[in-house]
Amino acid sequence: MAQRESWSARSGFILAAIGSAVGLGNIWRFPYVAYENGGGAFFLPYLIALLTAGFPLLFLDYIVGQKYRGAPPTAYRRLVKSAEGIGWWQVAVCTVIGIYYASVLSWAGNYTIFALDQSWGNDPKDFFLNQYLQMASAVEFTYLPNLFVGLVVVWVLVLFIMYGGIKKGVELCNKIFIPLLIVMFGVMVVKAVSLEGATLGLDSFFKPDWSGLASAKVWLAAYGHVFFSMSIGFGIMVTYASYLNKNANLTGSGLVVGFANSSFELLAGIGIFSAIGFMAHTQGVGIKDVAAGGPGLAFMVFPKIISTMGSAGNLVGFLFFASLFVAGVTSMASILQVPIGAVQDKFGWSKNKAVTIVGGGSAVVSIALFSTKSALILVDIVDHFSNNIGIVAGAILSIIWVTWIHRSLLPRLIEHNNRISSVKLGGMWTFMLTVVTPISLIVAFVLALVKLLQENYEGYTTGTLLVFGWGVVALFALSALILPKIKGHPTHHEDK
Ligand code: ALA
Repeated sequence: MAQRESWSARSGFILAAIGSAVGLGNIWRFPYVAYENGGGAFFLPYLIALLTAGFPLLFLDYIVGQKYRGAPPTAYRRLVKSAEGIGWWQVAVCTVIGIYYASVLSWAGNYTIFALDQSWGNDPKDFFLNQYLQMASAVEFTYLPNLFVGLVVVWVLVLFIMYGGIKKGVELCNKIFIPLLIVMFGVMVVKAVSLEGATLGLDSFFKPDWSGLASAKVWLAAYGHVFFSMSIGFGIMVTYASYLNKNANLTGSGLVVGFANSSFELLAGIGIFSAIGFMAHTQGVGIKDVAAGGPGLAFMVFPKIISTMGSAGNLVGFLFFASLFVAGVTSMASILQVPIGAVQDKFGWSKNKAVTIVGGGSAVVSIALFSTKSALILVDIVDHFSNNIGIVAGAILSIIWVTWIHRSLLPRLIEHNNRISSVKLGGMWTFMLTVVTPISLIVAFVLALVKLLQENYEGYTTGTLLVFGWGVVALFALSALILPKIKGHPTHHEDK
């Protein structure tokens, strides 16, 4: 088996980890999830989820990945043999996320070009739903050449990065894209907050709405989103940390990455809600009449705002969608690295073989499903089930396995971290991870699950939800049950 790849330096890892965390989640997903969950009502649960579960789990992912040097199935197996299946659950979640993530990424790429002449015209909502996506009212596999081409371009670009490997592919792409992202997004946000009426939008974003705290749905959405956004609980940070050297400062890096990610998320929320405020002000209507929920928010509301800015809108629009695309590419690379790293570790495959089979296979499924008139419906359903069930359940399983069932593991992990890291872990982290995080996750998960079983998500038909929602959950479970039974490369079976 070839020697395991590594980052060129800790800074390369930190940059790549920030590149992974900052993605479509921050710019495309956060505003609409916040909006759907009551705007201001979402802010507090988000912060609480960040502190009670986000950071504790981020540290756990880093330590497991770096100490046991593997993508999740191998790392968890080396930690405790029975946990390999949890690793495969996370790999399956990550693969499914990659498959729909590419679709949103291709929209962002197309919209970067559309922004140059505001191709969406006077009615961006109609343009997005009826002209660009030609959205069907139910799942329908009619192929659209424009979506097909966009997806092929995205997959070729991302696979090209993946063939470069950790140093020459992932690390290099982050070194180029992150500075570009910071500059473009910075200009965009400054422009947005200086618009007239921006404070109107910001008020609605930051104003706490205490009634939201009583809703399990809001809490679960907050946890699911924090995990998605920080790239934790579905294998990404375990995998990235596995390419670190043996003495890397783990918690110090984790704090840098976590705060960078949340700062970017807040910045994105500020930029977008300022623009929404401007729009409401110009039209003399309320915020609620401007914004629309759902995964189309960035693609319907933002162009509308841009249209009202005259020719300055071309630049702001270009910067916004180019940022979305650039941020998404670096995250997409991290998402794909999880299944690629997992099969390399388990079966001893070469990098090129893993990229071709796993990356190529994901590309085929992604193009087949998402270049159709059903793209938006499928993104909505698969995203909802992968996050709220897939990521959250994967996180719960890993925490319970490590802190409840095999209680002696946690002190070992703490000892390992404290030997090499600047920020020491102790009683507080143990308390969070053994009590606060799992209990709050389980309560939110069970309550929201009951709701999901009682009411069809967003009113989709039971058949559609069974195939594309519960179907993907079944896929996670089957991966967790079947893949550990397959014999792997001898190094995968080594105890460390
Ligand atoms: N963490 C990545 C994002 O926010 C997946 O898009």
